[in-house]
Amino acid sequence: MRVKLSGDIIVDSCFSFGGMAPFTICCPALSTYFAGKPWSREIIDGALEVMDKALHLPHNVPGGQAEYRQSLTQSFLFKFFLQVSASSHRLSSAVQPGEESCLSHLTNNFVHEGVRGVQHSCFPSGTASQEAKGQAGQSTKHMAGDLHVTGKAVYTDDMPLLPDELHCELLVSTKARAKIVSIDASAAELVPGFVDFTSAKDIPGVNWVGSILPDEEVFATSQVYCVGQPLGVVVATSPAAAKEAMFAVKVAYEELPAVISIEDAIHERSYFDFGPALPHQTALTVGRVTSERHRHMDKAEALDALMKELSEDDNVAIAEGEIYLGGQEHFYLEPHATRVEPGENDEYIVTSSTQNPSKTQKLVSMVLGVPRHKIVSKCKRMGGGFGGKETRSCFFSAYAAVASHKLKRPLRLVLDRDVDMATSGQRHAFLARYKVAADKTTKKLLAASVELFNNGGWSTDLSVPVCERALFHCENVYFIPNTSFVGHVCKTNIPSNTAFRGFGGPQGMFVCEVYMDHIARELGTTREALAHENLYRIGQITPYGQELDEDHVFVMWQKILQTSDYENRRKAIEQFNLANRYVKRGLSIVGTKFGMSFTKTFMNQAGALVHVYQDGTVLVTHGGTEMGQGLHTKVAQVAASAFDIPLSAIYISETSTDKVANTHPTAASVGSDINGFAVLEACRKILEGLGPYLSRCRTPQPTTDEERISTLAKAATLAHFDRVNLSANGFYATPDISWDWVKYTGKPFYYFGHGVACTEVEVDALTGDHKVIRADVLHDVGNSLNPVIDIGQIEGAFVQGLGLFTIEQVVFNNNGHLFTKGPGTYKIPTALDIPRDFRVSLLPNAPSKSSTIHSSKGVGEPPLFLGSSAYFAIKNACYAAQRDALASLASHSCKISGGGLSQGTTRTLTNGCESDEDTIDTTDCASTNGHTSLNGAQSELQTGDPPSKASPLSPPYFRMDGGATSERIRLSCWDDMNVRVRKGDFDAARHWAPLA
Ligand code: MTE
Ligand code: MOS
Repeated sequence: MRVKLSGDIIVDSCFSFGGMAPFTICCPALSTYFAGKPWSREIIDGALEVMDKALHLPHNVPGGQAEYRQSLTQSFLFKFFLQVSASSHRLSSAVQPGEESCLSHLTNNFVHEGVRGVQHSCFPSGTASQEAKGQAGQSTKHMAGDLHVTGKAVYTDDMPLLPDELHCELLVSTKARAKIVSIDASAAELVPGFVDFTSAKDIPGVNWVGSILPDEEVFATSQVYCVGQPLGVVVATSPAAAKEAMFAVKVAYEELPAVISIEDAIHERSYFDFGPALPHQTALTVGRVTSERHRHMDKAEALDALMKELSEDDNVAIAEGEIYLGGQEHFYLEPHATRVEPGENDEYIVTSSTQNPSKTQKLVSMVLGVPRHKIVSKCKRMGGGFGGKETRSCFFSAYAAVASHKLKRPLRLVLDRDVDMATSGQRHAFLARYKVAADKTTKKLLAASVELFNNGGWSTDLSVPVCERALFHCENVYFIPNTSFVGHVCKTNIPSNTAFRGFGGPQGMFVCEVYMDHIARELGTTREALAHENLYRIGQITPYGQELDEDHVFVMWQKILQTSDYENRRKAIEQFNLANRYVKRGLSIVGTKFGMSFTKTFMNQAGALVHVYQDGTVLVTHGGTEMGQGLHTKVAQVAASAFDIPLSAIYISETSTDKVANTHPTAASVGSDINGFAVLEACRKILEGLGPYLSRCRTPQPTTDEERISTLAKAATLAHFDRVNLSANGFYATPDISWDWVKYTGKPFYYFGHGVACTEVEVDALTGDHKVIRADVLHDVGNSLNPVIDIGQIEGAFVQGLGLFTIEQVVFNNNGHLFTKGPGTYKIPTALDIPRDFRVSLLPNAPSKSSTIHSSKGVGEPPLFLGSSAYFAIKNACYAAQRDALASLASHSCKISGGGLSQGTTRTLTNGCESDEDTIDTTDCASTNGHTSLNGAQSELQTGDPPSKASPLSPPYFRMDGGATSERIRLSCWDDMNVRVRKGDFDAARHWAPLA
């Protein structure tokens, strides 16, 4: 953008914009408009009108985001106007008070602000110094940390090639749903290096497999059900040749109608059932209605009846709505990778990047028809799993195994990032419809009903348990006496969605906080204030009948109010927002309570194998896998404590099904809980025999680490000469838990992990960009096994949650192709997206009340939901922007459309000015909205006064789907520009790209 002024008169100008067409375009209409006019405030308003007409995008424009792109170009022009005005003393009167702050967000003023972090943990006082280095409870670095940061750590694809080893490339469907007419690999055979095309006909065992239910074909035979579904593997002598040959395979399809989005699935009633426990049932309910009158009824019906009664009570506020939260890509550093190595007699060694070595072994065994005792499945480490390798990894090993079996050669299958993203499944998107009731006087929640839909993709995989966990978390940290949470798993034609850190829990809790925000606005208060009134206390009972024995969220909430200086900062933000029109700040507090245990009770078991050698060193193997979370370090610390030796004398080399058998995935955050106990049991068994020798060798007591190791060495050697077993296995099964869906009885969770976060953001209302200024996190890990690792987990989970609830957005095209297949289109948080001031503390002196390993608690997933505090802080900032827009009604009639991106309705407010046909007056608006403070706002506005500082306008609840992307933020921060472009029906924007 360029303008040339002579005096105050614009003599020449030029405007060009990217992102408004396939190429950069000029906007001559603007130059014509400006020519000869004086530089003034009025002129910019006219210019924006001109621009709106000249740079109009239809709703179905390729690339989508029509309203956002139009708003953004207008914002850009407006910022340019402000910048030119502000830069010249003569023109500066065109800038109104409160507008200049948005200029600091211009890229030419871009300042790299530093990021700082503070971490607090409380060490059990006095003990650390007496213990050997690295025992349980001490902060020691990740055992493989040095290898990670120097690049020496060996991941699956870092293993040297074996003689004769081949490379595979997956051939996948390019249609969302189609009949396979033919597959022709003849052209592939001509590619130099081509070795084989392996498909369904080459499978010696079964072709139908699955994570829980066998509803997936290893290689598709007659039909495909999603883009990315495997048809076979192409094997060649190099990865490049395999890829080239794969592209040469010709597949002919006959396309069939497909279901992509959750809305499509609801429309087609395309659901999976909840079998085998609940066969033919496509809805599952968690809930409890306490009122006597309704007890005999079905849970959902009872809640409906109760809600109906409540809605007739004048003292009860009701909020009803719908909310969507998109999916999330795992984006682990290491994409799926596996190597299969055949041996004599049908032996196979499968080395892969997996959270689930036993399921890998099982699937390979099934597809090859080879018994499991001949298949060893191993994993040294993963470059991240985040749930994405809980089940989906196993399938890649099965694909490769078929080819290895056919060719009798070792081979590896390593996915490229785009293939990984497009085929291996992601976090489930959720759509929820809710209704919630609260008492207007006491501000207590009375009842909540939620209907959840998650997008399962083409096969069930883990979608049913993900939905269950979401239902178990729909009340988050609040006591609600009457609840009914109903879930459905949508069957669609996208890749099968799978586990992702939190496993549905964060989605369920998000819905809860959204309905809390909604009902709070109805009650004329804030979500934070309402939350405070309704936090769970000890002895209260969850919707699934579990009595709570801890109320750490309540305790931590009070604490964080102080440590974050919440009240003062909230007031300061209030002032800041009154003083700044286009830069808004928001502050929010979010609590979380995460149920710990697999909801499938039988999965809560673990095994271990421990060997003590005569040099005083110990080799530990357990059923858990290392994905960067520090599990091996924590488990080794448990063993170090048991033998009273330093961590350096313990080694964990890998996870392997021939050392510990019949394991479950390392998931549900209970890796250290259950494997720690299994290892401890093995250590205790060894110590039974070794104990007498140790007592002898421990006089005098060893004081240094070296003495401790040599003491164990002496004892082990003596014991060995006395023919005492120095090896043992250990086993653990989590006690006291059970859950029966049919009888609706039991205790699904052994205990809960808790956390609270207070986050402040700053939003650029003109672009929708935001930054997280500060986040305070307080988290409960019981007595930490390793405070620094736990804090690392909390920081990582928080930031991954930040990504989910803000910038990350999965987009599918209408034809079922994933559009966001790499870092170019899919944005995860990076260095400057983390909180600029990040303060993480562990709740001190709070050993787990349940009997857990060294009184610790699992930490991997629970803090993820705390990242949503950024979303709610952003939303508070958007409310502030809407308040300004409402306030401007005082001076002129202004049409304001109602809220979030996906809200189709347009609500129009007037202020006693002449109304045109499409204008409804606010009394109508207030009654449909049921919102009281809007009425208050209206009367205040009619006086023509700007909102006073004492009684700030409180805009009504609006829907803003998650995550809070810049598009959603920009369109929620109302002003003349985006109101102008938002005349149409918002849902139309989805036609280009359905949010699956
Ligand atoms: N941390 C790192 N660095 N990498 C990961 O892949 N996965 C998370 C969490 N933390 C993950 C991580 C997930 S989804 C789970 S369930 C837990 O770690 C699993 O490990 P744990 O049970 O040992 O906590
Ligand atoms: Mo974690 S989603 O339970 O692997």
